[in-house]
Amino acid sequence: MSDQITDMNSKILIIGSSGQIGTELVLSLRKIYGNENVVASDIRKGNYEVMESGPFEFLDVTNKEEIGKVIDKYQIKEVYLMVAILSVIAEQNPKMAWDLNMSSLFNILDLARSGTIKKVFWPSSIAVFGPDTPKQNTPQDTIIKPSTVYGISKLAGENWCAYYANKYGVDVRSLRYPGLISYKTTPGGGTTDYAVEIFYEAIRRKSYTSFLSENTTLPMMYMDDAINATISLMQKEELETYVSYNIGALSFSPAELAEAIRKQIPEFTIGYKPDARQQIADSWPQSIDDSSAREDWGWEPKTDLDEMVRIMLLGLHYSI
Ligand code: SER
Repeated sequence: MSDQITDMNSKILIIGSSGQIGTELVLSLRKIYGNENVVASDIRKGNYEVMESGPFEFLDVTNKEEIGKVIDKYQIKEVYLMVAILSVIAEQNPKMAWDLNMSSLFNILDLARSGTIKKVFWPSSIAVFGPDTPKQNTPQDTIIKPSTVYGISKLAGENWCAYYANKYGVDVRSLRYPGLISYKTTPGGGTTDYAVEIFYEAIRRKSYTSFLSENTTLPMMYMDDAINATISLMQKEELETYVSYNIGALSFSPAELAEAIRKQIPEFTIGYKPDARQQIADSWPQSIDDSSAREDWGWEPKTDLDEMVRIMLLGLHYSI
């Protein structure tokens, strides 16, 4: 785990707190640092737990002045920037996705360079890898030529983070998330979303039609592991390098996920109707070599496929 817990009085701002990752990050950080010390912010309201358990600010991440005001108001020391247009939506509207994904990052990096923020977290993705990248056990450093708009923006963002770290001493940390699976908030506009949708349909209809083909294997992770990775990376006192770390956990295809669901719901059936998202999935790795993260800051995932399926079905059973 961590070398040192972040100063318990330091205030943390999560931008994008109503999204899939932001929601759970806020709740976990509030448990660790206290409700009042963790400020949630988004352009839309969050779920009941987020809105009721601590401070919330409406915030447009493209408005640097507005972000600056919130940072001053709460004396924010750490920012988690969890706003992004994901792969599928980005392909439909490349310019808008590029503008939002990059301007949000520049706003925070510039505020960190000139202001009181001491640490920044910015998520990257397996989408930085492209069709020329080795697909199995994809290394930390390898051929990185993304073929999607989302991947291009994440790779550029990684390079800008490294630039601000090296040139201006900004402490910015980053992870290349795989597909993230959770039940509290749905993802939106991603290629890996099938691995969440499938659980809703398994409960509602006991059948699902996958938009990715039967054997499309992708790296995935249960949300708790992603949140633990994020928080322990931020708690590390110092990092030797400011790379965006590969983190791996699970690796499965729609057919393998369906098989795991059938262990809990024997009558569950799956069909396949690949669409434009297949091409995006085909350009990404199948599994990830995360040895740098393991060595540098002790990363270790905890939730295996069967456990993740059990938690998802149970969680959704009570909420949908
Ligand atoms: N989950 C993301 C997507 O599918 C990948 O980072 O776009």
